[in-house]
Amino acid sequence: MGVTKKIAVLAGDGIGPEVMAQGVKVLKAIEDKYGHTFHLKEAMIGGCAIDKTSNPLPEATLEVALDADAVLLGAIGSPKYADPTLKVRPEQGLLGLRKALGLYANIRPVKAYDKLVGLSPIKNERIQGADFVIFRELTGGIYFGENSRNEDNTMAFDTMTYHDYEIQRIAHAAFKTAMNRRKELCLVDKANVLESSRFWRETVDKVAKDYPEVQLSYLYVDNAAMQLILNPTGFDVMLTANLFGDILSDEASVIGGSLGLLPSASIGDKRCLFEPVHGSFPEGAGKDIANPTAMILSVAMMFDHLELHQEAKDIYDAIDTCMDKSIMTPDLNPEVSYSCSQFGDIVQAIISGDEIKIKSVQAGSYSII
Ligand code: IPM
Ligand code: MG
Repeated sequence: MGVTKKIAVLAGDGIGPEVMAQGVKVLKAIEDKYGHTFHLKEAMIGGCAIDKTSNPLPEATLEVALDADAVLLGAIGSPKYADPTLKVRPEQGLLGLRKALGLYANIRPVKAYDKLVGLSPIKNERIQGADFVIFRELTGGIYFGENSRNEDNTMAFDTMTYHDYEIQRIAHAAFKTAMNRRKELCLVDKANVLESSRFWRETVDKVAKDYPEVQLSYLYVDNAAMQLILNPTGFDVMLTANLFGDILSDEASVIGGSLGLLPSASIGDKRCLFEPVHGSFPEGAGKDIANPTAMILSVAMMFDHLELHQEAKDIYDAIDTCMDKSIMTPDLNPEVSYSCSQFGDIVQAIISGDEIKIKSVQAGSYSII
C-alpha cells in the first residue's frame, strides 16, 4: 500500500536547483513504482531568498519546512553574498533552518566505491573498502555559542558551549547506528585542550554503558584528520562536535573521489532534512555539469528514514549500476561524461525498469528517448 508524504523542496542557490531537479526525478520514479503520493512544496532559502525577500529564511519557507514530513535541500551560497562581513548571508538561512527544526544529528556516510578508488588522490590501497559514517552535532557548539567583539573592536570571541542533553541525544543516535554496523564508535575531540571536549568524553562514557557491545575509542581531532587519510578503513562510526564534523566531513569527501558523492541526513526528534554535503558551486551553475549523486543519495537517506527501505535500496542499487557502467558526470570522468540532467534521467530509468531508455545509454552519446 502506498504512503502519502509531504516533502518540502528547497533547491537554494547555484547548482542547487539543477541537482534538486534530478532528486525530484528519482522521487517521482519511486512514487510511480510503489504507488506512493508525495506532495512536493517548493520554497526559497539562501541567496535567492535574500534577493526576493531580504531574508535568507523567509517565514513562508519555515512554515513549509515545519509542515513537511521531510525536507530536501539543494545548496545555499552565492558569490554575490560571499563577503563574510555582510550582515545578511545565505548561510544564516541554513543554520536558522537547522536550529528551528531541531536537527541536532547530522549524519554523513562516506564510502569508497570500488569503481572510483582510482580517482581519489589518496593511494588506492589505503582507501579500498573505506565505509564509515560521521555523526556531527549540528545545533550546538561554537556555531551557536555566544559571540561578540569588545567596544573598541580590538577583540572578538566565539564560545563552544555544550549541555549534557545535547551530547547525550546525538551520542545515542550514533551508538544505535554503530549497533547495526561494525559496533565501533570513535569519539573525536580535543580533550587534551578543551573543557567542552572533556565534558563530551565524560558524557559519552556514561551513554556508552547502554551499549556494552559497542567498542568505544577516542581520537584527538588533529590526529583524526591524519588518520582519515592514512587509515580510513579503521573508522566505523565517528562522533564529533559541530565544527570538527564540518571540517572532517569535507576532508573525508576526498576518499570517495568527489564532494559530489556525499549525501547527508540531518535528524531531530520530530523533523528531518536531507542535503548533499557539497556547496552551491556557483562556477558550475547553469552549465548542467554538476554531479547530482549526493542529492540523489540524500533522497535515498530520506526513504530509509521514512522506513521505506526497499525504495532506498532501489536508489542505492541504481547509483551502483551507474558506477559499474561508468556513467559519470565530468567531475569523475571528464573524457566520457554525462550531464547532470542525463545522469538523473538514467537513474530514473533504471529505477523504473525502463529497458528502452537504459539500452539507449551509451557512454557520451546518451540521448533521451
Ligand atoms: C556544511 C556547510 C555549512 C556548515 C555552511 C554552509 C554554513 O559547510 O553543511 O557543512 O558549516 O555547516
Ligand atoms: Mg561544511
